[in-house]
Amino acid sequence: MSVRSVLRMGDPRLLQVCEPVAAFNTPELHTLVRDMFDTMREQRGAGLAAIQIGVALRVVIFGFESDTRAGDCESVPETILINPQIKPLSTQQELAWEGCLSVPGMRGLVPRYSHVTYRGFDVRGDVIERQVRGFHARVVQHECDHLDGILYPRRLPDLTYFGFVEELDASGVMTAGVLPCEDDRCQPTRADPLR
Ligand code: NI
Repeated sequence: MSVRSVLRMGDPRLLQVCEPVAAFNTPELHTLVRDMFDTMREQRGAGLAAIQIGVALRVVIFGFESDTRAGDCESVPETILINPQIKPLSTQQELAWEGCLSVPGMRGLVPRYSHVTYRGFDVRGDVIERQVRGFHARVVQHECDHLDGILYPRRLPDLTYFGFVEELDASGVMTAGVLPCEDDRCQPTRADPLR
């Protein structure tokens, strides 16, 4: 087991565009993925990108059982996704609270596409292709943003809904009902944070 330290916002490495993986099923790639899972579990995250542990490759992992996280958040299958591509299947977006292991202790209300298809490879180079909605779609979009150097604060449409999780919890804003969105179709889904 090897838990690695997670880079935090402000570290310029988090802003870089990561390189595609060229060789699959190598010992180095297996070690990287294992370290990512060890780190994500130890930090109780829902996902992690390789660059968050300082490796500038297009590798993300995500997934958890619904009962391992607070709230009644849907399960997302444990997935390793390498060289991923995401396509929205409609223009519909939804707002929900997100967090990030690289922005510890904070949450923001982020719009994401509701329904996407994603395609990539597993660690052996086999194709993974899925159509997903809701929280699964959100996690993939959040993690894949890391590969292009984008942290979720850059996606925030309204900085009113960005702050420290303890304060947001105390004020009740994270469990408030309807929150504003630019798009009429955009409705908040739930108050569960994504880490
Ligand atoms: Ni993140």
